[in-house]
Amino acid sequence: MKKQNFVGVTEAPIQAGTRVLMRVDYNVPIALDGTISDDKRMQNSLPTILYCLERGAKVILCSHFGRPDGKPELEYSLRPIYEHLKKLLPAVTVEFANETVGDAVAAQVAALPNGSVLLLENTRFTKAETANDAEFAKQLAALVDIFVNDAFGAANRAHASTVGVAAYLPSYAGFLMAREIEALSMVTVEPKRPFTVVIGGKKAADKMPLALKLADVADHVLVGGRIAQEWQDDGKQHRAVIHVAPDQGLDISPATVAAWRPILENSQTIFWNGPLGQFDVDPQNAAGTNAIAQIIANSGAISVVGGGDTAAAVKDYQFTHISTGGGAALEFVEGTILPGIACLQKGEN
Ligand code: 3PG
Repeated sequence: MKKQNFVGVTEAPIQAGTRVLMRVDYNVPIALDGTISDDKRMQNSLPTILYCLERGAKVILCSHFGRPDGKPELEYSLRPIYEHLKKLLPAVTVEFANETVGDAVAAQVAALPNGSVLLLENTRFTKAETANDAEFAKQLAALVDIFVNDAFGAANRAHASTVGVAAYLPSYAGFLMAREIEALSMVTVEPKRPFTVVIGGKKAADKMPLALKLADVADHVLVGGRIAQEWQDDGKQHRAVIHVAPDQGLDISPATVAAWRPILENSQTIFWNGPLGQFDVDPQNAAGTNAIAQIIANSGAISVVGGGDTAAAVKDYQFTHISTGGGAALEFVEGTILPGIACLQKGEN
């Protein structure tokens, strides 16, 4: 597979007063008390924000949060995210706009001091966002001078704020986006071999086609978790040897871990998506996932983990890259050209 091209933010003409619309993926888990329970996506967006601020830009951040029904709903407001962002940027003026586009937002942008941040309200508070409506994209574009997309987690969505807006502005990839493309490309572009894919999780119907697709490029595919129990061979010849865990319980067994160990230890590249046990049912079922995480972390292989559940499960182990993308990471590895990346190939227009 060929590497996907993009123009990075370091090529953007950013100077004092440049208005930058930066699409981030702040679709983060929020606890019942309103606090952010995992801010990895926010943390990982800071280098691009700081890069723009250091050059005196006005950074206008926008993101979706959850799946509101195309209208403002309090439970999907970005306000709790704004409160958290202020803590992450203590030395910076960070303001919040109650709307996403319109005259009031334009006035806030005009009044925003250089080197400051304005976070817009949820882009999905209008159906125009998910419909990739041209008028809405134009309204967003009218607020700023350039567009920077750092929302890798939403790069599989062709929405107004991820793709539509790029038709009207010079458009660049932020550092998070660039890092994701670089890291995931280690798996998709001539991976070092042996290349092993580990697939687990519950969504067997979604994951089985992915596993079979990856079996055409990998050398080994290790299938565990619920998907192993529902596994259906397609009867076709694949490049990889497919190893389906024979376990019937809620976790892969020590015997499966022992059988997979030499395969993983011998691998040069490993891509992992999906937990191997149902530890949401009982934490004891994390034993297999932890054992495999430890083997991969010690293997010395290029190791890339994709998918929100897997990333959360293995956060205590050291991998080459843990993606901030769920569906986006999977689609990328499957070979799909993500629309949120494809639109970042032109830079200044
Ligand atoms: C994610 O969490 O995977 C992204 O933010 C995309 O969210 P979506 O599936 O609602 O488009």
